[in-house]
Amino acid sequence: MSFLSQASLTDEFDDLKEEYETLVKQNQVYKEKLADLKKIQSKCLSLLSHQNKKYKQLRQALEGSDSSLSEEDAALEKKITERQKSCRSIQENLPKPNSFLLNVIVGQISLSLLTKAEKYDYKQGYEQFKLYTTIIMLVYSLVNLFIVQYRFIDAIYHFMIVWYYCTLVLRENILRHNGSRIKGWWVIHHYLTVLLSGILLIWPDSISYRMFRTQFMVFGVYLNFLQLLQYYYQSGCLYRLRALGEKSDMDITVAEEFQAWMWRGLTFLLPFLFFGYLFQLYNAITLYYIANHPDCQEWMVSSSAVIFFILFLGNSSTLSKVVIDKFKSKGSKTKAA
Ligand code: COA
Repeated sequence: MSFLSQASLTDEFDDLKEEYETLVKQNQVYKEKLADLKKIQSKCLSLLSHQNKKYKQLRQALEGSDSSLSEEDAALEKKITERQKSCRSIQENLPKPNSFLLNVIVGQISLSLLTKAEKYDYKQGYEQFKLYTTIIMLVYSLVNLFIVQYRFIDAIYHFMIVWYYCTLVLRENILRHNGSRIKGWWVIHHYLTVLLSGILLIWPDSISYRMFRTQFMVFGVYLNFLQLLQYYYQSGCLYRLRALGEKSDMDITVAEEFQAWMWRGLTFLLPFLFFGYLFQLYNAITLYYIANHPDCQEWMVSSSAVIFFILFLGNSSTLSKVVIDKFKSKGSKTKAA
């Protein structure tokens, strides 16, 4: 290296000195603020826990009194309810301990998302993950259905489903930990699907497997198509909810627009979903007949039939309940307006 170029490198290094010193100072400030943040968080958590405990005791004392509530007591009860509601919204910005399951899977690392923006971004990432994986699985299942027919290639598809649903379970637990209202059944649904795909993965290449293979691949194509439709519905809801959440004054027009969009999306989606559930019932019936075939030796057939049937029951009853609840809340909102 020439003397000149070495001198210019040294100059460049010296030029960085001022910026480096600023970086060190800023980092010091950052560390102090981080320590302060932790202190404030624990202070808030301890105050919140005390407040919650006290409101609970006050409520119990009110409810425990033998005589009926006086006007003053009723007013106090109303104030307690409002304060408890406010405490719940304060809680949303504070870290909370992981559930038992999350602790077992990821250890004692905090998985609380502390701002609305972080929560939306995480949910959006979850929806995008579902979209990309579904597209890959759709292409793969089409190839399996029309082009390649090897048991080993099928096994990769079954393994992909196992991996996909395990990942979904973890991400959905993190979403639920951060206040998402995902119904418990959908999480159970994913566990059952992991079990079912595990059974399909180890099902040997036998007469019974070949009897069911084509129907299962058609079902796979339909399911992936259904998940694409669900993606457009869920991401549309998320986009509109974000717009709604950003308007702190709860703009009525935006809220009504969201409701109207949700109902249009849901009405479009429902027939496809119910058809998918009937397909699950049809799979259960087909497997039941295969299980009774004289050439069928494998236990995988009857166990898959049972799981498909449980999925059909759980999915259709949960979906019906979701729709009925939404209708009821729509009715009560219309009356209130
Ligand atoms: N998987 C993951 N999350 C779901 C979900 C599902 N199947 N269904 C609803 N959620 C989430 C919503 O995104 C929402 O989250 P948020 O609280 O973070 O905003 C929360 O659960 C509450 O949703 P809810 O109001 O009950 O329903 P929705 O309007 O969002 O969706 C359906 C209603 C029917 C469209 C949706 O439940 C669905 O697609 N169900 C079918 C799923 C299915 O059958 N999968 C298997 C295919 S065979």
